[in-house]
Amino acid sequence: MCGIVAAVADRNIVSVLLEGLRRLEYRGYDSAGLALVTPNGLQRLRAVGRVAELEAQVSASGAAGSAGIAHTRWATHGVPCERNAHPHVSGGLAVVHNGIIENHEALRARLKQEGYEFTSDTDTEVVAHLVAAELKKTPDLFAATRAAITQLQGAYALAVLRETDPDRVIVAREGSPLLLGLSDQGNYAASDASALLQVTRRIVYLENGDCAELTRDSYRITRVDGTPVVRDETESHLSADAVELGPYRHYMQKEIFEQPVALANTLEMLGTARSIQPGLFGANTEEVLKDVRQVLIVACGTSFHAGLVARYWLEAIAGIPCSVEVASEYRYRDSVPDSNTLVVTLSQSGETADTLAALQHAKALGMTKTLCICNVPESSLVRENALRFITRAGPEIGVASTKAFTTQLASLYLLTLIFAKLRGRLAPEVEAAELQALRHLPVAVSKVLELEPQIRAWSERFAMKQDALFLGRGRHYPIALEGALKLKEISYIHAEAYPAGELKHGPLALVDKDMPVIAVAPNDALLEKLKSNLQEVRARGGELYVFADADSEMTDSEGVHVLLLPEHYGQLSALLHVIPLQLLAYHVALVRGTDVDKPRNLAKSVTVE
Ligand code: F6R
Repeated sequence: MCGIVAAVADRNIVSVLLEGLRRLEYRGYDSAGLALVTPNGLQRLRAVGRVAELEAQVSASGAAGSAGIAHTRWATHGVPCERNAHPHVSGGLAVVHNGIIENHEALRARLKQEGYEFTSDTDTEVVAHLVAAELKKTPDLFAATRAAITQLQGAYALAVLRETDPDRVIVAREGSPLLLGLSDQGNYAASDASALLQVTRRIVYLENGDCAELTRDSYRITRVDGTPVVRDETESHLSADAVELGPYRHYMQKEIFEQPVALANTLEMLGTARSIQPGLFGANTEEVLKDVRQVLIVACGTSFHAGLVARYWLEAIAGIPCSVEVASEYRYRDSVPDSNTLVVTLSQSGETADTLAALQHAKALGMTKTLCICNVPESSLVRENALRFITRAGPEIGVASTKAFTTQLASLYLLTLIFAKLRGRLAPEVEAAELQALRHLPVAVSKVLELEPQIRAWSERFAMKQDALFLGRGRHYPIALEGALKLKEISYIHAEAYPAGELKHGPLALVDKDMPVIAVAPNDALLEKLKSNLQEVRARGGELYVFADADSEMTDSEGVHVLLLPEHYGQLSALLHVIPLQLLAYHVALVRGTDVDKPRNLAKSVTVE
């Protein structure tokens, strides 16, 4: 989604702004722009498409300046076009904005009456005019910006620049992430620390309601009413190299193949122990989990699917009731709260607006036992939970989530074991065996990745299809859901997933020779039932693509293509069975020539509702 970079330094900061935008490209965007204070006043450049287009404009114009703001835009209000690209300007000042101003229509109407002219369809332009209007009452840009934002409703991260203030950038945050980067050569702000690693690792995270004034050698943070506040400076431990593509063609491919390492890193703290320590989720884990009677998991998209798998584990292994909800539904639903519920939020980015709001909603209902499983240690979500577990998947750049999903699953399995242990349901020898199985996962996943050539061959046949049906049963039904999501988001093939037992309750009507049916068929207690469901598909002429376990006694026959996974992996098999589905989606998208890492209309980090 939208990205912000701002800089004020003792040198030309154009390359810092452009490199920062490039580092944010993975979030998804459709236009980019920047504004600089130059000796000739404010200079604004904007381009539809990639940051490279903006860069070409910058070099053609020779733009330079020591204070500037820059932005990548993911369209919400108004189509992607240059006119709607940020920065938006008013009376010698420029503004970039992430988030959504919910009362923009009322503000626009008022500002028009006051004589301000609008040149875009965006909600952001009202902010530029509001600050300009406030500057008529006070000469101070910081005070004027704070006065303007008291009139805003919604979510925002903002950066403001004025041509008569060549050594000053103002920023503010409410609901959308924003942080400061400090250095001896200048001060910076960005929506994501990765944008600033090129110049500094000294980071100050702003909190909701914070505003800051940056100059080249100082910064100050206040609340919106001007009360000064101090926020801790931290050192970012993000790896600058982790966002390099290396030998891979796409980030998604790189991230699929990184899964063994991502899992090994995530599980590293287990060491060689034969028993699991609850402290993995935070020093006070036992205290928080002591009276927990049920688990509520809230998340979006792929993270939601990880939650659905975990429900099977938590109920079967730990014997604890679990419900799983889509965050955007939960936050607006009248639910029945129980203060002895552990609320688990799952998120790769830790910045998903709906997941953050769902957590706030649960807390407001009195549910304070909270745990997040998240891949970004410095994210908003991590700061807002009583317990936390950081998946160590490393930066995930491809919009389609892969390694974040499998590391979430591994973490949720650890949580299951901890609950089982605390509830007296984990005999020591079983515990040791479970930990051994977890430690073996990276090897098991590596073996599944070796199936890539066969999956690539299958993908040729899928590429011409319009629709696909995914089937699974039990804890592999969410894996079927995840396979369908991966295929639709990057190949744009319409795909649906069903629990196989539901087939004859409706979706069987869709099955004919043109409908490929993908079945997740591990060798578990439901295999024989699944085989009967697959017969129902064959009887209607449907072509079957089956991912089975080596010991499941399934072989190719007419219209039935079987790929055997090397190991049968019990409860953890969901982690292995998702891998071929990720590879299938990736290769189908390659054949279809879509933009694998940046699929149309999607953003990596969904920071608006
Ligand atoms: C799908 C995908 C999305 C995310 C969802 C939640 O491949 O990546 O469905 O899973 O937007 O994002 P996080 O996990 O960052 O909260």
